[in-house]
Amino acid sequence: MSMEWKYLFLAAALVALSGWFRFYSQPSTFIHHQQVRATPKISFYKLSLQWPPATCHGTLRCKPPIPSDFKIHDIWPQDRYDEPIPPYKKKNPCTRKRPTLRKDLRIKLHTVEAHLTSEWPNLTDGLNMTANYKFWGSEWEKHGTCSDYPDDPLTYFKSALKLRRGIKTIVRFGRQTSWTVNQVADEVFYVLKAYPQIACNLNPSRTQKQLWEIRLCYDRPNPGQTPHILINCTHILRVRKGKIIGPCKSLSDSIFFP
Ligand SMILES: *[C@@H]1O[C@H](CO)[C@@H](O)[C@H](O)[C@H]1NC(C)=O
Ligand SMILES: *[C@@H]1O[C@H](CO)[C@@H](O)[C@H](O)[C@H]1NC(C)=O
Ligand SMILES: *[C@@H]1O[C@H](CO)[C@@H](O)[C@H](O)[C@H]1NC(C)=O
Repeated sequence: MSMEWKYLFLAAALVALSGWFRFYSQPSTFIHHQQVRATPKISFYKLSLQWPPATCHGTLRCKPPIPSDFKIHDIWPQDRYDEPIPPYKKKNPCTRKRPTLRKDLRIKLHTVEAHLTSEWPNLTDGLNMTANYKFWGSEWEKHGTCSDYPDDPLTYFKSALKLRRGIKTIVRFGRQTSWTVNQVADEVFYVLKAYPQIACNLNPSRTQKQLWEIRLCYDRPNPGQTPHILINCTHILRVRKGKIIGPCKSLSDSIFFP
């Protein structure tokens, strides 16, 4: 056989083989899909706002001054079971776009850096830009790379800033007071007309549950938009794989607002 004929023969054999393979591999793919939960799809976004006096007296060691208004922790894409959308990995190529690399965030976020520093600081050392970019970089890798904006971190970060700026009041009660989880949720519902998720942490001596975070849920926006329609969160207490996590276990738990 000439060289060309050899290649033609090989090509034909390959086509035949791949057709056979596709045909016979279908039943097993089908079974596989029934067993494994389908690739998670974004259902809504969760804006997580932390109360710095609780974060800094319980979870982190912070350099003063400790802010006394709610600061952004992150905005998370969640699936319909209220589980976080997993981050981008070679094994989880959630998008065909190439997610922006963490090392490029400094260039991409340059124009909103001051605004991020004020509303989304790394509370450990909020005026240290290296610390801030470390925080934004890790949140970006974990939650931004499989959001609706994998190659557009500026829009991702700005979407949270915009939501935060739109909320003047979250709760009307003063500091150094105690409430049940349910009362806090009702208060947020009264003010914002949507039920939040409440996250608690423990004070440094681990004797008291504290109001650590209030999380707000937003419908997944249409393409070209950012989250803006508040919806009720599905779980007032934090749930992971069907189980309540964190120190607060019941809506009647009493929590301190430091
Ligand atoms: C700023 O933060 C970085 C790492 O997050 C740290 O290595 C550095 O020492 C900090 N700078 C100052 C002045 O504290
Ligand atoms: C926040 O800053 C501290 C101090 O620089 C650093 O050690 C820590 O890793 C940063 N947090 C995150 C989540 O990157
Ligand atoms: C949220 O839940 C409350 C109480 O169940 C209900 O009255 C309200 O209509 C819900 N809001 C939305 C946006 O679904």
